[in-house]
Amino acid sequence: MRAYVLTRYGDANAMELRDVPEPVAGDGEVLIRVRAAGLNPVDHKIREGKMRLVNRLDLPRVAGSELSGVVEGVGVGVTRFAEGDRVFARVDKKRLGAYAPYSVVNEIHVAKMPESLDFTDAAGLPLAGLTALQALRELAVAADDRVFISGGAGGVGTYAIQLAVWMGAEVATTASPRGEELVRSLGATTVVNYRKQRFKDALADYDGALDLTGGQDLPDSFAILKRGARTVSIAGVPEPTTARVDLGAGPLLAVAFWAASATIRRQARRRGVGYRYMFMHPSGEDLDLLAALVDKGTLKTVTDRVFPFEQIADGFAYLEQGHAKGKVVVEL
Ligand SMILES: NC(=O)c1ccc[n+]([C@@H]2O[C@H](COP(=O)([O-])OP(=O)(O)OC[C@H]3O[C@@H](n4cnc5c(N)ncnc54)[C@H](OP(=O)(O)O)[C@@H]3O)[C@@H](O)[C@H]2O)c1
Repeated sequence: MRAYVLTRYGDANAMELRDVPEPVAGDGEVLIRVRAAGLNPVDHKIREGKMRLVNRLDLPRVAGSELSGVVEGVGVGVTRFAEGDRVFARVDKKRLGAYAPYSVVNEIHVAKMPESLDFTDAAGLPLAGLTALQALRELAVAADDRVFISGGAGGVGTYAIQLAVWMGAEVATTASPRGEELVRSLGATTVVNYRKQRFKDALADYDGALDLTGGQDLPDSFAILKRGARTVSIAGVPEPTTARVDLGAGPLLAVAFWAASATIRRQARRRGVGYRYMFMHPSGEDLDLLAALVDKGTLKTVTDRVFPFEQIADGFAYLEQGHAKGKVVVEL
């Protein structure tokens, strides 16, 4: 089969379309005929070698982190899925494999697709949707909280706004003028144009912040929080909890993250707020919840651009410009 393969760590040329053998479902695994796959910043960060410290991969390997498709077969012991089911998944981080006509995924990472979605829209939901859901849980958002989400117009942001509103929060976000209408339509009530103004000069007394942009936005988020509140980041600096809880790593990585995050943790402490960097984890169970929210009409998918699989490199060139509004998807 023709797959998009990560051949080595490097620039865009390090991924290429190649012929590879079709995978076979092992015990507890589901063989999926892939209909569409989502593109995510993590896929090019992996390619650039930026994830090597936390996720060492043997190369070459079929790339791709999320997909939608139809169950073609199941391995021994699979109970929740049968041939013909329409499913979607954020695949195992060490295995990848979504950018191919066939992919094998552990059944615990798979869920039935929302009935109201087509394959294209469903393919962009798993990674960003799970990240938004798990980060907001980590933030312990409660009804009537005022929550700030940086970068609301991107893949994760579009879901995070809607899920925070579903949890009962009032949401402020940052967006460029091109993204403002979109983030308001998803439920953000306060929108700061980050190209004109620093959000820390416009906002105050928030109950929690979700940092999706990193850089200076991360320490700036501390400045708009009430004392005792906290920022959960997915784009800033990993800290010791990230190593212990999200990566199940030993003390060595925890110490490395402790050192790397010393400055940012000190900045948080000075403001009397908390800081946590989180890595999302694949979860079929959480996908069931997201699918139910989509079918109830609570959660909308936002697909920015769709490319044919053969033009996946163009899809990445677009995504890597950093201006996608919602998700970028390839169709197989
Ligand atoms: N830790 C984890 O488990 C995890 C999981 C998922 C994602 N991530 C990371 O989270 C980040 C966001 O991911 P994503 O998929 O949402 O990315 P994305 O879809 O590529 O985000 C692009 C969007 O961000 C907006 N944007 C860029 N810079 C901004 C800024 N300074 N302020 C406000 N908006 C800004 C852009 O708007 P304009 O073009 O209008 O400026 C664009 O709409 C990435 O770094 C990704 O690697 C981490």
